[in-house]
Amino acid sequence: MEKPSPDQQKTLDAFIKTAQYLASLTTQQDVWSEVGKVLVNFFGADLVAFGERRADGEIIGRHWAFSDQVSSQRNLGSEAKEAIAEVLESGFLTSQLVFTPDPLSVAFLPITQENQVTAVILVGHRMSEPLPKDLLNVYLAVAGLAGTTATRLASEIELRQHRQHLEKLVKERTAELAIAKERAEAADRLKSAFLATMSHELRTPLNSIIGFTGIMLQGLAGPLNDEQTKQLGMVQSSARHLLNLINDILDISKIEAGQLEIASEPFDMRQTIGKAVRTVTPLAEKKRLALVAEVAPEVDQITSDQRRVEQILINLLNNAIKFTEHGEVRVECRISDGWLVTRVVDTGIGIKPEDMGKLFKAFRQIETGMARRHEGTGLGLSICQKLVEMLGGEIWAESGWGVGSTFTFTLPSSPSLRGTK
Ligand SMILES: Nc1ncnc2c1ncn2[C@@H]1O[C@H](COP(=O)(O)OP(=O)(O)O)[C@@H](O)[C@H]1O
Ligand SMILES: [Mg+2]
Repeated sequence: MEKPSPDQQKTLDAFIKTAQYLASLTTQQDVWSEVGKVLVNFFGADLVAFGERRADGEIIGRHWAFSDQVSSQRNLGSEAKEAIAEVLESGFLTSQLVFTPDPLSVAFLPITQENQVTAVILVGHRMSEPLPKDLLNVYLAVAGLAGTTATRLASEIELRQHRQHLEKLVKERTAELAIAKERAEAADRLKSAFLATMSHELRTPLNSIIGFTGIMLQGLAGPLNDEQTKQLGMVQSSARHLLNLINDILDISKIEAGQLEIASEPFDMRQTIGKAVRTVTPLAEKKRLALVAEVAPEVDQITSDQRRVEQILINLLNNAIKFTEHGEVRVECRISDGWLVTRVVDTGIGIKPEDMGKLFKAFRQIETGMARRHEGTGLGLSICQKLVEMLGGEIWAESGWGVGSTFTFTLPSSPSLRGTK
């Protein structure tokens, strides 16, 4: 390779410095003023300007930069305007010698941004002969760098605007969410207050309806004839049903509002099973179903919420009796792998495989011609599941249509196991 002449070496150095300088520009700086400075300082140009076409078609010059030697003169001459128009049109470099009145050799360099000639750089050197070809080639490369730099800075600015816009959007959305959350919380507080009031306002009169119809049914308020006894019996059973419904709805609401307090105290599981079984015995007797409890010898004290465990047991036993016409209902309880496993097994109508997925969903009763004969709220299993989960266990069902069902729930048999599942 031929060794560059001292002049070529100087131009090459200037170009490298230019490339480095333009690469370091940030969006704070104006590309065109900086390119002006570079051409004056690194390449010794006497004049630099940018020519472009305004929206009205007029060719104008901007960002003039001068070395000390050239007097300030800011209007473009008609020759310069023509040259700029030509370069904008063709995209090719031109150069010419003008007199201002001193001789000035000017190059017109196209600036290309995204495949379009957007402006023209005018570089003038005070000399009376045409600019050397080598220098013109380097200038063309500088114009290329200027175009890429301008494109880069423009996209950086655009990116920043997008980011700011996004940040603004996020802030707005966050504020909206905060308002929505505040509203939801207010509504929730209102709901809780409403439920607490309703619980009292509905339960109290219902209990007195149930109590007083009971008194009348017992004949304590005077003798009743058969028809009156029958009608009052219906009043009492409807009132009981309504009370159950209210209690269930209150339970679900409290669980969902996270307001249900769970106790954690030692109690005797064997006794709790006995109590639940005694509660449902009249129902089983009415249907002539055998009611069996099989509690393994190792089952005694567990630490959990006695009242809630009893509620789960009664719910499952009630279902088992409700959906069984012949045979027996059995409770089994044993300890397995540190878990207290309780099963309620019946020989009733069972559940079709396609209906298994509907179990444990609030207000879902499985629609069979038969099920309609059974009253209920469809909340029992959903409450059981939530309670079991709160107590640290699991509940599931197995069933065969026409064969019977088994509902199993687990509870941690010692408090240390809580929360491990
Ligand atoms: N032991 C069972 N045998 C057959 N079906 C059952 C049994 N337990 C529950 N089911 C089905 O699951 C549904 C939901 O039960 P549950 O949530 O307790 O509501 P409810 O008892 O008020 O109907 C019942 O309506 C019934 O269709
Ligand atoms: Mg039920």
